[in-house]
Amino acid sequence: MPARLLLPAPGAQPPPQGPVSWLARPKLVPQPVEMVDQLAEPVLPVLVDPERIGLVFDNLIGNAVRHSPKGGRILVRARPQSGFVRFEIEDQGPGIPPEYQQRIFEKFFRMPGTKGEGIGLGLYISREIVSAHGGQMGVDSEPGQGSRFWFTLRVPSLPPPRG
Ligand SMILES: Nc1ncnc2c1ncn2[C@@H]1O[C@H](COP(=O)(O)OP(=O)(O)OP(=O)(O)O)[C@@H](O)[C@H]1O
Ligand SMILES: [Mg+2]
Repeated sequence: MPARLLLPAPGAQPPPQGPVSWLARPKLVPQPVEMVDQLAEPVLPVLVDPERIGLVFDNLIGNAVRHSPKGGRILVRARPQSGFVRFEIEDQGPGIPPEYQQRIFEKFFRMPGTKGEGIGLGLYISREIVSAHGGQMGVDSEPGQGSRFWFTLRVPSLPPPRG
């Protein structure tokens, strides 16, 4: 049974450290949405710069919140995938037409009609950060069916046993 996370009121205590702690930043929540995490247990350790990977979560979850319908559900998943952990952030927003699925990762690109603040750098920077960690980032989406952004982070191989 996956844990269920509803966003705390602004000012509430953040949850303990871990990927889900990024879900709890009240600044990301301009409208009511439901957050659900489906993080595989046990989650494998990944070697990251937490501040920079925090920016990646901030942007992907921020985008998902911004493009969600009122009360829409946002799913966050993490699961092992042959030497990597794959993270997914899924929303029930308008989705991204195939012709824009690569372009949204370009510098300063925003889809026509995108309103609200933002300069179109978030996904470019996020992909650069993930790539610097040795991972990859992409999106699966069909217009009208929501978007699923994903990225992978390498699981470091264990050091050889001593002695
Ligand atoms: N979850 C999503 N659902 C629908 N469209 C999205 C989603 N995420 C991103 N987009 C589209 O991709 C564009 C680029 O996203 P990106 O995060 O790079 O920029 P931004 O959110 O507009 O601005 P910034 O992140 O720099 O504040 C967005 O402007 C929007 O058109
Ligand atoms: Mg953004």
